[in-house]
Amino acid sequence: MRITLSNLHKMMREGEKITMLTCYDASFASLLDAAGVDTLLIGDSLGNVLQGHESTLPVTLRDIVYHTACVARGAKNAFIIGDMPFGTFQVSPQDAFRNAAEIMAAGAQMVKIEGGRSMLETIAFLTERGIPVCGHLGLTPQSVHQLGGYKVQGKAEDDAQRLLDDAGILEQAGAGMIVLEAIPAALASQVTAAARVPTIGIGAGVDCHGQVLVLHDMLDVYPGKKAKFVKNYMKAAAGSIQDAVALYVAEVRSGKFPGREHSF
Ligand code: KIV
Repeated sequence: MRITLSNLHKMMREGEKITMLTCYDASFASLLDAAGVDTLLIGDSLGNVLQGHESTLPVTLRDIVYHTACVARGAKNAFIIGDMPFGTFQVSPQDAFRNAAEIMAAGAQMVKIEGGRSMLETIAFLTERGIPVCGHLGLTPQSVHQLGGYKVQGKAEDDAQRLLDDAGILEQAGAGMIVLEAIPAALASQVTAAARVPTIGIGAGVDCHGQVLVLHDMLDVYPGKKAKFVKNYMKAAAGSIQDAVALYVAEVRSGKFPGREHSF
């Protein structure tokens, strides 16, 4: 049966870790589903790992809609989140709604939006009209040029406080989940302790309610530079994709991943 947002909130309340991986096609969706991955994210990371771009900025709404439909056909159980690409949600809440509705119609159960307090109005507009929203704080790759590179965020005291406040603001606006990317583990732990919705970490330490990795990174098929927070599960599982995904699920559930070596 299809996992719902309420199921994920229950897992959070009961201290059960949530597993998430990015996914972009039906075959992998079916494989990840069979391995028990709770949540599949059609991330705009597809710009890097599928399309060969240097950033996620060229990814279009059409790309996300197409890949969301592929994943939705392949996965019977996993909760499905579609990423909102750069330029599809910043103009106005109304424009964001129209674009998010296309992703939902393709089979997503939630959309993900990068950004902090400036997204308050948009998140409220979408959630009040039936579209669940996942926030994304910390290293937000669509802002790579503003951030000056793919760097760990929230290290300075005022940046950390701003991120903590942003998490509360997103939750108040109606966000049902928050991805925390590349921030100190201690800060993610603080955000998680204060949150009433699941936090999903990527390079944010082991205390988050769940973890996500980019599929092509953890299977070691992406030729580009890997972040410190990536673990090569293909190597750890001796070359079997099924075993690599099963090991990731087991290690996230048991709290073995991420280790200190994958955290900041
Ligand atoms: O696009 C993506 O894959 C993401 C994850 C890294 C969280 O946003």
